[in-house]
Amino acid sequence: MSNRLQHLAIIMDGNGRWAQLKNKPRTFGHVKGARVAKKMITHASDLGIKYLTLYAFSTENWLRPQDEVGFLMRLLERYLIKETENLIQKNIRFTIIGDLNRLPTGVQKQVQNSIEKTSKCTGLQVCFAISYGSRQEITRAIQKIADLVHAGKISANEITEDLVKKNLMTGDIPDPDLILRTSGESRLSNFLMWQAAYSELVFSKVLWPDFTTQDFDDCCKDFYSRNRRFGKIDAELSF
Ligand code: FPP
Repeated sequence: MSNRLQHLAIIMDGNGRWAQLKNKPRTFGHVKGARVAKKMITHASDLGIKYLTLYAFSTENWLRPQDEVGFLMRLLERYLIKETENLIQKNIRFTIIGDLNRLPTGVQKQVQNSIEKTSKCTGLQVCFAISYGSRQEITRAIQKIADLVHAGKISANEITEDLVKKNLMTGDIPDPDLILRTSGESRLSNFLMWQAAYSELVFSKVLWPDFTTQDFDDCCKDFYSRNRRFGKIDAELSF
């Protein structure tokens, strides 16, 4: 059974607490968090990981104070303006999941621009989950499938797990092998809930702005020590 780390997904948590511990505004933590994201993208690419999904902004994050939301949006836009050429140099393809329409127009344009410019890159595929929520994603998939049934294109008993998967925002990309969350919290927070069915989960106590490539490697080591059975039993135990 496969223990290859092909798809890693990260809940980058703890920016606010990190800043508060330093008596700085929360936004200071987000700036450091973005630098760490950049470092981890490069590291994942160097390690030959094929897919890296980063939870950058959830549907619930819209409920944060407006100035923090605005700051995160500008940070994202600036990050993409600055980094797109680097991504191309490293053969990294940029994609997103989430409700792009809710983002400010400038951010939407930059996101589209980075997606297009990196679309031919064949190395790591880095996917930012922005304005993303798993419940919203599953609800939309149900709506799209219901439309197909309503239009008489398929019948209800032709709805398969594969059809549901294809209608999720992650489309054809493989499910995450490992979901990592930093900052000591142990929950998924509406992230990739369908896709996480057989993901290994690792919870690191390190706050995201302090997360290092060594921490990254330790989490990968933890993953490789796991015995993934996907609900089956080991071949040598099957008597
Ligand atoms: C969680 O920390 C982090 C977020 C809500 C946003 C994640 C954003 C970044 C890492 C920076 C932007 C990234 C890029 C690549 C531009 P929190 O604010 O929930 O921290 P807390 O739980 O300590 O309050």
